[in-house]
Formats: sequence, structure tokens, C-alpha cells
Amino acid sequence: MNMLLRSSFLAFLILGILQYFNAPANAQVTYGKNGMVVSDNVLASQVGIDIMKKGGNAIDASIATAFALAVTHPEAGNIGGGGFIVLMKANGEVTTFDFREKAPLNASPDMFLDTEGNLVENSNHQGLKAVGVPGTVAGLYLAHQRYGKLPWKDLVQPSVNLAIEGFPMPWGLYQVALNLAEWDESFDIMTNYFRNENGDIIQPGEIWRQPALGNTLSLIRDHGHDGFYKGPVADEIESYMKANGGLITKKDLEKYTAVERQPLKGSYKGFDIYSMPPPSSGGVALIEMMNLMELADLSSIEFNSTAYVHLVAEAMRRAFADRAEHLGDPDFNPEMPVDRLISKEFAQMRLENMDMTKASASDSSRFGQLYDGSSTTHFSVVDKDGNAVSLTYTLEHSYGVGMGSSKLGFIFNNEMGDFNPQPGITTSKGQIGSDPNQIVPEKRMLSSMTPTIVGKDGKPYLVIGSPGGRTIINTVFQTVLNVLEYNMRIDKAIEAMKIHHQWLPDEIRYERHLMSPDTRQALEKMGHKLRPVNNLGVLMGITYDPILKAYVGASESSSKEGAAVGY
Ligand code: DON
Repeated sequence: MNMLLRSSFLAFLILGILQYFNAPANAQVTYGKNGMVVSDNVLASQVGIDIMKKGGNAIDASIATAFALAVTHPEAGNIGGGGFIVLMKANGEVTTFDFREKAPLNASPDMFLDTEGNLVENSNHQGLKAVGVPGTVAGLYLAHQRYGKLPWKDLVQPSVNLAIEGFPMPWGLYQVALNLAEWDESFDIMTNYFRNENGDIIQPGEIWRQPALGNTLSLIRDHGHDGFYKGPVADEIESYMKANGGLITKKDLEKYTAVERQPLKGSYKGFDIYSMPPPSSGGVALIEMMNLMELADLSSIEFNSTAYVHLVAEAMRRAFADRAEHLGDPDFNPEMPVDRLISKEFAQMRLENMDMTKASASDSSRFGQLYDGSSTTHFSVVDKDGNAVSLTYTLEHSYGVGMGSSKLGFIFNNEMGDFNPQPGITTSKGQIGSDPNQIVPEKRMLSSMTPTIVGKDGKPYLVIGSPGGRTIINTVFQTVLNVLEYNMRIDKAIEAMKIHHQWLPDEIRYERHLMSPDTRQALEKMGHKLRPVNNLGVLMGITYDPILKAYVGASESSSKEGAAVGY
């Protein structure tokens, strides 16, 4: 590393450490006039702010933050997974980037079934056959080519520094490290992941270095897209896959491309809602539910009342049935009725058969016809010119498949588990078997990630997203409602009581301690089944306050190391 880079890195590290231990607490509202990054890790948020201070725009900051999260938040920040970007440009135009993983060329619809056609338990989430062809580096590179301002190298360098020079182990990661020490030894990379040269678990405050990851990131810094999909990284991915029963080859890597797609656009009481189109189901379901809410008119329904929870749960039930029936990769399902699902007329039809006094039933054999007539991470970024980025990316489970070559230092996703594993079999437990999301070589698996930007008069008003599998759609939906309908400040909106209904299983999950016992009883009387969970969502949001003429950001308290950093 040359002297200049080294000294600026030292300054960065000292500042970073100071900021780390004086970091704004989670869920504490933060203000910024010129820009804001809200991510699952305070160092990664700071990397994005530093890029903006050097003249980078929101896309530059997002790329740098995404690579930094791959180092500082490895349970979900990644280069071995995939995700989506929604970008609103300063001129009000909106676009999206799809860098969702793809099924390898050697995949097949029945690859996770036994000879009798039954799903082999966990096979779609465990072992290297569960890995989809990673998309993250391709997506970030494409977004940079189209809309970046600073040189690519400057955006990757901070993460190279963080990996090679290391950073102090934070308490949140230390907690994870203690749990991982118990992991099965077959998860080779994971057993040593958080250990120092002596084999001891890195203690809180002790510097944690990841030299192999630093080397992989240096290749990406120097060679861009090809630094991952060709050359030594691709060679090692192929040989690791071959040696350990995986399917991905150099041909899969070479063929992988990210795609720029038109966003989905909806509206709610004068606000424009932009979200991710398929292969995410998030935007379709979000807009369908927002349309239902607009028609149902929440102005006379109090937040958190029985009527509110019932209405929201019934909207979720319907949107998730439609998701299960219709959605998959658009490149393989050209006939998907997306426009119809997000239309106001469709919402009217869905609303008409809603009974405001009792729960409807979820039927796995009929999808939506009945109603006719650990892990992902999200971050939100805005810059001084009014460019906004909403980025969610994932390894699917926390630490993905838990495997990866220790020569490369990163973990692979287990995203193949997001395909429908058993053609034709939809169960009351929530396994889906419809056609659009069956495994086909090079198809992208359906996602629930819902990176979203709400615009007002062509400017970003709310930038929001969350991890949480299928719950993502619903936690984003409720947060958007909390801001647009109930006028909550962003920190209150993301912390407020959330529920989750996903059609099947037919139950309302609610956040323990946040719903009153009276409401629960009243909902049960209406025929709802209720299940308490500790938490729903890890939302990262930014709003624009027109009176202060400033951005307001907050990260949800359930994030271990999250922080909004503004300037
Ligand atoms: O793309 C999806 O919908 C899932 N792979 C996301 C998984 C997830 O959010 C897990 N995180 N908490």
C-alpha cells in the first residue's frame, strides 16, 4: 500500500474507532443536511459518508458501503450473495439494479427431491448445491458504470483496508462469534472465522483482520467485475465447488450478468412509491397492499387498534396468496400479471370480499382465487443533490451456506432455498409449489426483498428497507404506512408494533409485548390465529423533513451494530 493510502487509512482507523465507541446508538434519530447513510454497521455507514465528502454521489457511497459491510457485517453483507438497488436520481428519474443470484447451469427442478419425489429436508439450504451464482459484485459494478462518479478503485479501497488492517471486534459480532464456535466442523470456513492466529476467539476491542478477504477485494478493486467472475477468484470458486459437491463452474460465473430494470411504481394519497419489480416479489406485494389501504381509508382507523391489525393482516393474506401463485423471474415468466396486481382496480376487487368483522381462510389449493371478487441486510443512502439509494442484499440465511474457500475469505449464499423446492406442492405450512418459481438453469429465484423509495414531487421523501425473509414485505409496508398515513417520525415508524401474515401458515405473527392483550383477544374472536415473535424487521430508514430542510435517519434497535450517520 502506498504511503498516502496508508496514512489516510490510519487516520480513518483512529477516527473510525473513536466513532465506533462514541457511535450514535441504534434507533436514535440522526439529522444531516448534506447526506446520510443508515446501515447495519456504523463503520460501513461512515465509509459511505467519507465517499460523499470526497465528492462521490449516493451510488458511489452505496457501493463503498456495500463492500465495507462484506467485511464488517459478514452475516449478510456480502460478495458471495446477491440483491437489489432502487435508485432515485436527483432529476426525479428512478431505476433499479437486479443482481439476484441465478440457478447454476447444472441445476434442475427436482434437484432437492428424493427418488419418491419428496423434499430431502434442508437440502435446499445446506451444502454447496444450495448456492446460487453470486450477483453482488456484478450489480455494484454495473451500477457504478451507469451512475458512479468517483473511480471504482476509490470505492473498494476502504473495504480492502478494513479487511487487511482490521477493526476492533464489536460486541454484537463477538456474540455471534461465541455461537459460531459451536458450529459443526464441516462448516470449515466458519470454525476459524472469528479466531486469531492462536486459535482463540477474537475478544471485544481486539483487532480482527481478514487477509484472504482483503486479497479477494484487492482483485475486485483492480479488475472490477472480472476480478470476481474471471481469473484467480473464479478458478478457486470452481475448484472449491468441485471438491465439495457444489455445482457452480467458471462457465456459470462467466455468464452471470446483472440487469438494470424499470422500477415498479405505485401511489398513495399523492406520494409516489417506487420499489423492486420481479424477481423480487416485494414491490408487487407492497403496492398491492398500499392500494388496499388507500381504498380502505385508514383516516378513521386508529394505529394498533383491532380494526387496524385485522385490515392489515387481511391485506397481507391476499398479497401473499397472489405472490405465491404468480411471481417468479420475469426473464422466464413473460406473462406474469404484474400490472394487474398493482392496479387500483385489482385492489378494489380484493377489498370487496374482505369481511371487516372476521378473518378469511387461507387455502393452499386455491391461492388468491378464494378472494376474487438470519440473513439479509438493508441500507439507505441520500446525498446533497437529492440522489437516493435503497439497497438490500443477502446471503439468504445468516452466514449463508456457512461454507466458502478459506483462500478467498468469503461465504457463499444458500439462495437456492428461495426457489419452490417441490413442483406442484403447496402446503399449509407455507411451502409453495407453483410454476413461476421452479428451478431452471440460469433462472433467478423469487425474493421478498423490498428496497423502496417514496417520492414527493420528484424528490426522495422516504428511503426504506429491511431484512427478514418474507416478513420484509410486511415490515416495509407497515413502516411506509406509519410515515405516510400516521405521520410518525422515522425512528418511531421503524420501532412501532409490526405484524406479519403470509397467507400460509394462516397466522398473525406479532411482536411480543407490543400488542395489547385486549386486541389479541378481540382478533382471536374474529377467527385469527396469533403467534408471538420477539421481533419483526431490522429497518434502516431515511426521511426528508421539508421544514428543517434536512434528512432524518434511524436504524432499528434490533440491529447489533447499526447506525445512521449524517453530515
Ligand atoms: O431474498 C429473499 O427474500 C430472502 N433470501 C431473504 C432472506 C432474509 O431476509 C433473511 N434475513 N433475515
